[in-house]
Amino acid sequence: MTLSREQLEAHWMPFTGNRQFKDHPRMMASAKGAYYLDADGRKIFDGLSGLWTCGLGHSREEITAAVSAQMSSLDYSPGFQYGHELSFELANKVVELTPSKLDHVFFTDSGSETIDTALKMARGYWRSKGQPGKSKFIGRIKGYHGVNYGGVGVGGIGFNRKMFGQSVDADHMCDTLLDENKFSRGMPAVGAHLADELEQLVQLHDASNIAAVIVEPLSGTAGVLPPPVGYLNRLREICDKHDLLLIFDEVITGFGRMGAMTGAEEFAVTPDIMTLAKQITNGSIPLGAVVVRSELYDTFMDNGGPDYMVEFPHGYTYSAHPVACAAGIAALDVLVNDKLIDNVKSMSSKFEAAVHSLKGSPFVTDIRNYGLSAGISLEHYPGEPLRRPFEVGLKCLEKGFYVRWGGDTIQLAPPFIVDEKQIDDLVNAVGESLHEFN
Ligand SMILES: Cc1ncc(COP(=O)(O)O)c(C=O)c1O
Repeated sequence: MTLSREQLEAHWMPFTGNRQFKDHPRMMASAKGAYYLDADGRKIFDGLSGLWTCGLGHSREEITAAVSAQMSSLDYSPGFQYGHELSFELANKVVELTPSKLDHVFFTDSGSETIDTALKMARGYWRSKGQPGKSKFIGRIKGYHGVNYGGVGVGGIGFNRKMFGQSVDADHMCDTLLDENKFSRGMPAVGAHLADELEQLVQLHDASNIAAVIVEPLSGTAGVLPPPVGYLNRLREICDKHDLLLIFDEVITGFGRMGAMTGAEEFAVTPDIMTLAKQITNGSIPLGAVVVRSELYDTFMDNGGPDYMVEFPHGYTYSAHPVACAAGIAALDVLVNDKLIDNVKSMSSKFEAAVHSLKGSPFVTDIRNYGLSAGISLEHYPGEPLRRPFEVGLKCLEKGFYVRWGGDTIQLAPPFIVDEKQIDDLVNAVGESLHEFN
């Protein structure tokens, strides 16, 4: 590494222990396929596909070519009042790949912006329909919906909220972790009844005050919590019964990770609003998307006033950025043309068996998995829930494997191009790291 300790100070790093990192930097220098090369030239397996972003593998030539051609033809185009063809092409692709009934796409630049856009759409929709009282949101404990004010308010990870105080008006359902489901493979059998807590929250707040319910179909950041069998269907039923919008945050589950194009498709429940980001460009260029039912879009259009008026006063300087759209089109083409979701499906049973072989390893208190994602919960050091996953993550890195640590879990999400040997090597690295504690 060429930078001095002093040169590391200027950059205040996100979601990073800055003091520890700057004393012990972990620098990536390049990436290709399923591997990084770090600044010392060491090969490191990408056990989390970047940050759940790079399922197609790194530095895909198709994406590089599309991005570079776009940079030299139309590097930027104003997103307000003007358009360019790529955003319409990408929107049509997104509509084609997401469940029928989700027909209109609003572009953003990240998952967090996508969530806040979806929340504003939900409130705006009810106001346009003459029901301004419907403004409260129902999220879920352990939910992660990014870091902007709305997303933090509906989110349910205390560590991310407690420093910042009150944001949007939100209440929360309980999470879906149950002791009897420990070490379940795939969707836990028990837990559909947990959705009934939504009924209680509706009794408490009244449906006339609630805009929407937001959940990740599978909670990723909280440590990979697949939905219990029947749980999402039950949420859908309760939302329909009380006229509440249902938002699926598919920033992690969108575009392949579950072994289907979306979590909605895999779990056979269609929301009213879906949020997407990360895998849409394979992580190469920031881009997010909110996809909504026609009824929402039409409500804004029908109540928009004269046709020169803006119907939804919202958008970002970089919404539908032409280079990001070029990356998105190329990435989705690779996903479809290379049939990579088939590989996710065929590797997921091998992956499931491998990660569950860690049951009985030191400190392992639970293992959960779905598609190419897995969460391994670890016994805490007394009073220090975050420490052991951090230490395990560093031990894996020493062995040449990047894994994510978050809360009291280790999270794994290898790229869709992974093979059986790479899965074994990744899981062995985690197992060996756990055994190295004495
Ligand atoms: C479900 C979910 N929603 C939203 C976000 C926020 O996305 P971003 O970090 O791009 O703002 C994330 C990021 O991990 C996520 O997992």
